[in-house]
Amino acid sequence: MIVTYADIDGFRNLSGISFEPDPKYNIIVGPNAQGKTNLLEAMWILSGCRSFRGSKEKDFICLTGNRMCSKIKLRDSVREQKIIYEMIKSAASPKQITLNGVKQKGTRALFDVFKCIAFIPDDVEIIKGSPEKRRNFVDMAASQLNPVFVVHIAKHNAIMNQRNALLKGIMQGTTSPDILEIWDRQAAHEGSVISYMRNEYVAKINEICGRLYRTISGGEEELELEYRSNVFRAEDFGTPCGNEAYERYYQKLRETSDYDIRTGSTHTGVNRDEIVIRINGVSARDFGSQGQVKSAALVMKLAQAEIFTKRCKDSPVIFLDDVMGELDENRQRFVFDIIKDMQVFLTTPNESALLPEIKGKILRISEGRITEETDNVSSYRE
Ligand SMILES: Nc1ncnc2c1ncn2[C@@H]1O[C@H](COP(=O)(O)OP(=O)(O)OP(=O)(O)O)[C@@H](O)[C@H]1O
Ligand SMILES: [Mg+2]
Repeated sequence: MIVTYADIDGFRNLSGISFEPDPKYNIIVGPNAQGKTNLLEAMWILSGCRSFRGSKEKDFICLTGNRMCSKIKLRDSVREQKIIYEMIKSAASPKQITLNGVKQKGTRALFDVFKCIAFIPDDVEIIKGSPEKRRNFVDMAASQLNPVFVVHIAKHNAIMNQRNALLKGIMQGTTSPDILEIWDRQAAHEGSVISYMRNEYVAKINEICGRLYRTISGGEEELELEYRSNVFRAEDFGTPCGNEAYERYYQKLRETSDYDIRTGSTHTGVNRDEIVIRINGVSARDFGSQGQVKSAALVMKLAQAEIFTKRCKDSPVIFLDDVMGELDENRQRFVFDIIKDMQVFLTTPNESALLPEIKGKILRISEGRITEETDNVSSYRE
């Protein structure tokens, strides 16, 4: 999958940006605070995912403006598609999303259209951060392969909100505890499906991460990922997800329901899952060095790209924000080798820190505008 055209205006500090990306490498160059990350973010939001910076939608519009618009054309093996994301500050419904000329209710449909993977310095949080960060990574990556997963997650979240509100009502004596059963049955169904999908994805990514991490560490270190379900034991996943799994999940929920009522929150289920990441047998979160943590995060994203490419017979679009220049030559080469056939947008304040074989279109950005666009495909940078 490649982006064939991008047009961005009024997104943060960006204005009048319009270009035809290189089908391979696009190198966005400029000093700090000129709009490099903004350019990636403006394209990224068309993937239906929340901003990789965790920023709020209202901040997308330029502080001194009233309207932002980000448009792209995308081509995969089947067809060309067009996505437009527009926001007008003063409008009654500020956000308008159009896919191939058809207005969309939200960003959900885009998730199935524009598949991309962003590598950002904050990726280390997948290793170092709370269990939620790891769950989100796995959920997002698995959803890219099978968008129905998003529906299960959304349903489970909605059920949890309802259940937690009910728990408070029960504790205060305003709601009957009998109602809980209906919600627990539904939570058991969605939660089981999510557990099985997480288990499958972690098993797959574990295999690939093992191989990639061995290579990146010169064959000296082992990276392992293990899915620790809050409900199921590893052997339970030997049988397909069905009535037996729903019943087990439901019984587990019932076991902690008294405690849940007392505390007003749910202590059983996929919301308590952990994905344990180990380097050479010990927790990377607790014991990993900075270099190990960075490499592990990088390898996990590369593994995500590899799984996607194999399963979907198409490549995701890759965004590398301030990542390449930070890596030594060997590591850059290792990354480049895996993503070399994909379309890549990378930012760097210093293009001379990049490997000479990374050639493509150079977009120079200054104060939110492209000041120069050059193709360096045929000329090697010295
Ligand atoms: N809503 C907004 N309206 C106007 N300007 C904004 C808005 N949000 C961010 N900016 C500006 O965008 C600039 C930052 O852009 P960006 O994060 O893309 O920089 P960058 O080129 O990636 O820099 P670095 O190399 O430091 O990462 C800042 O000058 C900031 O003030
Ligand atoms: Mg930046």
